[in-house]
Amino acid sequence: MQRPDTILCEIDSPSAACAAALAEVAVACARDRGRQLRVRHVRIDHSGLQPPTLVLHLSERDLPEKRRLHCLACRLASICPGARIHIREQTHSLMNNKLVIYYATETGNCETLARQTCERAHIGGWSAEIRNLGDFHPSDLVINGPAVFIVSTWGDGEPPSYAIDFFNELNQPHAPSLAGLQHAVLGLGDSSYEHFNVFARQLDERLAELGSQRFLERVECDLDYEQIHATWTEAMLSTLAGCSA
Ligand SMILES: Cc1cc2nc3c(=O)[nH]c(=O)nc-3n(C[C@H](O)[C@H](O)[C@H](O)COP(=O)(O)O)c2cc1C
Repeated sequence: MQRPDTILCEIDSPSAACAAALAEVAVACARDRGRQLRVRHVRIDHSGLQPPTLVLHLSERDLPEKRRLHCLACRLASICPGARIHIREQTHSLMNNKLVIYYATETGNCETLARQTCERAHIGGWSAEIRNLGDFHPSDLVINGPAVFIVSTWGDGEPPSYAIDFFNELNQPHAPSLAGLQHAVLGLGDSSYEHFNVFARQLDERLAELGSQRFLERVECDLDYEQIHATWTEAMLSTLAGCSA
C-alpha cells in the first residue's frame, strides 16, 4: 500500500523512451511535494492504439494546484505528443470504507461465501456490496479502491460459464489498465482435478498484470472451504483496516 511519504504512479506508454519521459514528469511532481516516487506499473504497448498515459496517485493533501498541473501537462505534451495525465485519489475509497466483492460461481458456493463476506464487512463498518463478475466488463470494474474476488474453477480449469466472457475480455491485449484497484482473490476448487484453482490463479495474475495492486496473497481452497473462507475474511478486513488507518 501507499506509504505517506511516497507518491505512486503508473505508466502506459508506446515506447521505453516515452515511458522514461513520463517517469521524469512523475519524479518532478513528487519532488515538488517533497515526496518519494514509487513507480508501480509500467506497461509498454507497441500497438500505438493507447495514448501514453501517466497515472499519479495523490492523496488529498497532495492534490496539485491547477497551475502546477497545467505546467506538467504542457511539459508532458512537448515530450510525448498525445500524452495524458490522470490523477487518482488512491486512498479515497479506503477512507470511505468502500469494498466491492465480486464472485464467479457455477453452483452457488462462491455467491454464498460472497454474501457471508459482505455481512461480515458490514459488521466491521465497511460499505460493502457484492457483484456477479459475469455482469461486468473489465472496463466497468470499480477501480478506485479495494475489491475482492471469490471465484471457483470449472471444466478443465476454466471460469464458471457466466464469467467466461469477462475473463476473455480481461485477457485481450488492450484490456483497460486497472491501476488504482487493490485486489485479493479467494479461489474455490477441488484438488482431485488436474487444474486445481486455475481460474483463481489466472485471474489474480492478470489483474496484477493490468496494474491492480494485490493487497493480500491469493488463497486457494479445496472442498472444505468454510473455515478457510472465514479466516481469509478476517485477514482481508484487518489488512484493509490497517491500510486505511
Ligand atoms: C464438473 C466439475 C468440474 C470441476 N472442475 C474443476 C477444476 O478444473 N479445478 C478445480 O479446482 N475445481 C473444479 N471443480 C470443483 C469446483 O470448483 C468446486 O466444487 C467449487 O466449490 C464450486 O464452487 P461454485 O459453486 O461457486 O461454482 C469442478 C467441479 C465439477 C462438478
